[in-house]
Amino acid sequence: MNKPHDLLARSPAIPNFSRQDNTPWSKAEWPALREGARVGVSPPHESAHLHVSGQATYTDDAPELHGTLHAALGLSSLAHGKLLGIDLARLRAQPGVVAVFSAADIPATNDCGPVVHDDPILADGTLRFVGQPVFLVVATTQTLARRAAALAREVIQTEALPAVLTAREAHAQGQYVLPPMHLTRETAPGELERAMACAPHRLQGSLSVGGQEQFYLEGQVAYAMPTENSGLRVLCSTQHPSEMQHVVAHMLGWMQHQVQVECRRMGGGFGGKESQSAQFACCAALAAHLLQKPVKLRLDRDDDFLITGRRHGFEYDYAVGFDDDGRILAYEVTLIANAGHSADLSGAVLTRAICHVDNAYWLPNVAIHGFVAKTNTQSNTAFRGFGGPQGALVTEFVLDSIARKLGHDALQVRRANFYGIGRNNHTPYGQGVTDNVISPLVDQLVQSADYAARRTAITRFNAHSPVLKKGLALTPVKFGISFNVVHLNQAGALVHIYTDGSVLVNHGGTEMGQGLNTKVAQVVAEELGLDFAAVRCTATDTHKVANTSATAASTGADLNGMAALDAARTLRQRLAAFAAEQHGGRTESVRFSGGMVHAGNTTLPFAALVQQAYLARVQLWSDGFYTTPDLHWDAKTLTGHPFYYFAYGAAVSEVLVDTLTGEWRLLRADLLHDAGRSLNPAIDIGQVEGAFIQGMGWLTTEELVWQAKTGRLLTHAPSTYKIPTANDCPPSFRTALFDNPNAQPTIHRSKAVGEPPLLLPFSVLLAIRDAISAVGDHGTDPPLRAPATPEAILDAIEAVRIQQSSTAP
Ligand code: MTE
Ligand code: MOS
Repeated sequence: MNKPHDLLARSPAIPNFSRQDNTPWSKAEWPALREGARVGVSPPHESAHLHVSGQATYTDDAPELHGTLHAALGLSSLAHGKLLGIDLARLRAQPGVVAVFSAADIPATNDCGPVVHDDPILADGTLRFVGQPVFLVVATTQTLARRAAALAREVIQTEALPAVLTAREAHAQGQYVLPPMHLTRETAPGELERAMACAPHRLQGSLSVGGQEQFYLEGQVAYAMPTENSGLRVLCSTQHPSEMQHVVAHMLGWMQHQVQVECRRMGGGFGGKESQSAQFACCAALAAHLLQKPVKLRLDRDDDFLITGRRHGFEYDYAVGFDDDGRILAYEVTLIANAGHSADLSGAVLTRAICHVDNAYWLPNVAIHGFVAKTNTQSNTAFRGFGGPQGALVTEFVLDSIARKLGHDALQVRRANFYGIGRNNHTPYGQGVTDNVISPLVDQLVQSADYAARRTAITRFNAHSPVLKKGLALTPVKFGISFNVVHLNQAGALVHIYTDGSVLVNHGGTEMGQGLNTKVAQVVAEELGLDFAAVRCTATDTHKVANTSATAASTGADLNGMAALDAARTLRQRLAAFAAEQHGGRTESVRFSGGMVHAGNTTLPFAALVQQAYLARVQLWSDGFYTTPDLHWDAKTLTGHPFYYFAYGAAVSEVLVDTLTGEWRLLRADLLHDAGRSLNPAIDIGQVEGAFIQGMGWLTTEELVWQAKTGRLLTHAPSTYKIPTANDCPPSFRTALFDNPNAQPTIHRSKAVGEPPLLLPFSVLLAIRDAISAVGDHGTDPPLRAPATPEAILDAIEAVRIQQSSTAP
């Protein structure tokens, strides 16, 4: 059923699009394609008019059934301890409380772990972090449920145990959620050690990069309702309805066919609803089942922060040997990810991090050591990039330091290390980089961003500006596309043509704002020659398409677009055969375009043909299926061909830093990103810009702070946790797509775009570092941690000043 479709021949060239500063897009700006094309053009997001008018319905907006009850969670206030008891009687006596449940009430399995079964739904025996759900209160209103749950500290009896709160501490104690991972690749046995010892230059150091809260605007929510004959229907804000179905069935000891999970859309997921929606789906389902009443659980923002995990913070130690041009000869790096209290998706996140240490660079001799530290904090999970950004960042940092040590422009050093074409092109995990476009892409960006002239201007500016310093950096991205667990790379779709010629599409992917439904509808409209308006995508529903993968790893359109194309093509071929039979001509020459069908000498509306087909008893609906070809992965050796292809990009950022206050501004950003032959350029540009600003938030303003003794997360609301806003967009923001049809026969030769551009704002962090280095002499290498908050910037400036005064003659 695997049908890579080569549709390249049907799509004319799409020139590059670029957005000049902040001028809005107009439809006329998109170049005309083949008359009537539905892909490569930019119809607005299918829900744009609903989003902006407040009419789009999210899980909490579904009309509530009569008798709906509301749940809230009672949380642990201890990072590590024994759970001795809960004063249930006191909780049950609170106003409006209908029931209180604890781990003992779970019928079958108290676990919602996605891979390793180490994730209790409600605490059982041990408390593992501050914020862990311990009991579930169900009350007549949400306020009353939350009020009772807020008594947690008073009703939970505990005995404290020593807690491990940082990744370094856990690493020192050898405390991990999964076994360590090691990957070494050498040009010849023993070459790493030899090249390191003989290298003309060496550097070693450490780096620390913080985690990041997903901060989806719509928080975690699930609404469960009992259905007849021991069934449950669960509306859930989730990237993974099938997984929610599985964990609910597993918890109740049921068959999967008893549970239906549905998600129309999310108000953002960003990885935070891939596995971690499970706890809330389970809690709502548990209460709905035990009470035989509809039950809704919607977290408030503080609880969402306290309970759920986020992007893993990483600690790094590295040593690198390099030549006079800054070419890396030997590189050894240790990555320590803070997994939190359970495994969740940490194994896969670390694997992706290891597979992105190379980023765009040939590393002839390299050893990568990865650890997932077990700490008494929230269990960290997927977040846009899934470890890829954390893997690549350390190497970008190291290259920046190499350039400073040699006194070269960092861009020159980066170029010296780029993967070649046909040589020096094997990743440390053994996959060939055969679709490499990094050099031409960077060349184009260097031109369009006027890199050289701006570098000169900045050097001149800094020479005459003692307090305000400017910085400039260009960083590239190479990002592997596919789930690095092979079996997840599959998708299904169901396409219905109704008798009036309208088309309803259902597929296994979920819509979280990224425009997946728009792209899939475009693909189906293109295949059937219909207007975009004739095709509608519906809510993701485990009763329609079974055994789906999470919408994650940026593969939503690659997988579900292909599955929908498979279904639509089956229908087109069936209708073409019928049209030829009815109206003459050959089946192969029947054409579908502009809502019309051309068969032999006859032209008739698509709807008329469909009506005739219905009366002739032709099946007007079809399923579709797709699996990504050519993938293999050996998790033991960390080698194989885990990615179908790579997506590329690069960015140039220019910043202005106030060296007295540590405040800074992004003055200009030039982004050039490879979305293959884009299915919808406007949506893809939105993804590139959104990922850039989101990644910039991770690296600069979003700081997570846990109280050092208690392990309580102090930054659990927007008052203390600062995500970027519209004001943080640079006044000059120039985003363009690099026209580069995918070398692989993906859906219309497009490329996945959701995550890769999250790595583009490395350029912002390194531009800040560049500005800080201007405080010292040529060759100054500032120690800057991420996020580069004003405090971190001032610390780095201080370190540079101390370095200067101690080396002054
Ligand atoms: N864009 C919006 N607006 N909202 C989101 O939650 N999630 C990102 C990215 N873009 C996200 C988003 C993440 S983490 C992934 S993996 C992809 O979208 C998932 O969707 P796709 O595979 O269809 O691109
Ligand atoms: Mo995205 S982190 O793969 O949900």
